[in-house]
Amino acid sequence: MEIKTVGVVGCGIMGSGITQVCAQAGYQVIVSEINDQVLSKGLKSIDAVLSRSVDKGKISPQDKDAVLARIKGTTNMADFAACDLVIEAAPEEMELKKSVFAQLDKICPKHTILASNTSVLSIADIGSATARPDQVLGTHFSNPVPVAKILEMVRSIATSDATVATTKSFGESIGKTVVVCKDMPGFISNRIFTSFLLNAVRVVEAGIAVPEDVDTVFTMGAGHAMGPLATLDLIGLDTVLKGASAIYEELKDPQYAPPTLMRRMVAAGWLGRKTGKGFYQY
Ligand SMILES: NC(=O)c1ccc[n+]([C@@H]2O[C@H](COP(=O)([O-])OP(=O)(O)OC[C@H]3O[C@@H](n4cnc5c(N)ncnc54)[C@H](O)[C@@H]3O)[C@@H](O)[C@H]2O)c1
Repeated sequence: MEIKTVGVVGCGIMGSGITQVCAQAGYQVIVSEINDQVLSKGLKSIDAVLSRSVDKGKISPQDKDAVLARIKGTTNMADFAACDLVIEAAPEEMELKKSVFAQLDKICPKHTILASNTSVLSIADIGSATARPDQVLGTHFSNPVPVAKILEMVRSIATSDATVATTKSFGESIGKTVVVCKDMPGFISNRIFTSFLLNAVRVVEAGIAVPEDVDTVFTMGAGHAMGPLATLDLIGLDTVLKGASAIYEELKDPQYAPPTLMRRMVAAGWLGRKTGKGFYQY
């Protein structure tokens, strides 16, 4: 099956990046949001990223215009009827994702593959909201999507070989290195990375060190591009909290139990870059 038009549900941190890379690879993209205001904010963020690429001489102004012309924003899910593949990048909540997938299942043609960008949630559970669980899989992009080369693809026990093969070729066509893993809590990256991030919060919570010093240990000592607390601010503390809670729920392994400090920061709206305050001020 040839993918020509890609749908993206949600134009937040990840949805905007996914929309951009798909449009840059030549696909027509339809991206949806909950209202015009949020949609406009998401589309402006794509415009801003592309403008920076023009300023740096990485793409021409004509390239930028061509990419933007391939993107159509909408607040009407019915527009996804034109898509061969839809990638959901809505918040990390199972009931919300199931409701989105149930709607997509009704709206999209029979051949359409439905993918979730979930960081940790079960693809089999999400797929159970549709009548096509064999055409449902995880496409877990990394943040920032235009920069990160990896695409972690997740197949549930119901996902067909054809769905995996088509989506893998699609992932490679947008310049990603694709790895395929099983539908187990945290997949590969978050199974390993979540406990690392939570341990960094525990170090701050215990008063062992301030965020700057924790991060410096990893940037200066381990060659990381960014320390764990700056990374938490980049991802969004709410997103990591939801992800860690979901892994903990399934595995009951205390290494995934969210620290109290993190719960309090999320309750206070200190979600990181997206709200201007997290472990750092923005
Ligand atoms: N932030 C990261 O670094 C990261 C990395 C990998 C995967 N993820 C996963 O990607 C998904 C999205 O995360 P994010 O960080 O982009 O979140 P975000 O909060 O930045 O964006 C989510 C967007 O979805 C929109 N939305 C909510 N309901 C919707 C609906 N019914 N239809 C259309 N849009 C809707 C919201 O308005 C919001 O703009 C989550 O599942 C998350 O776990 C996030």
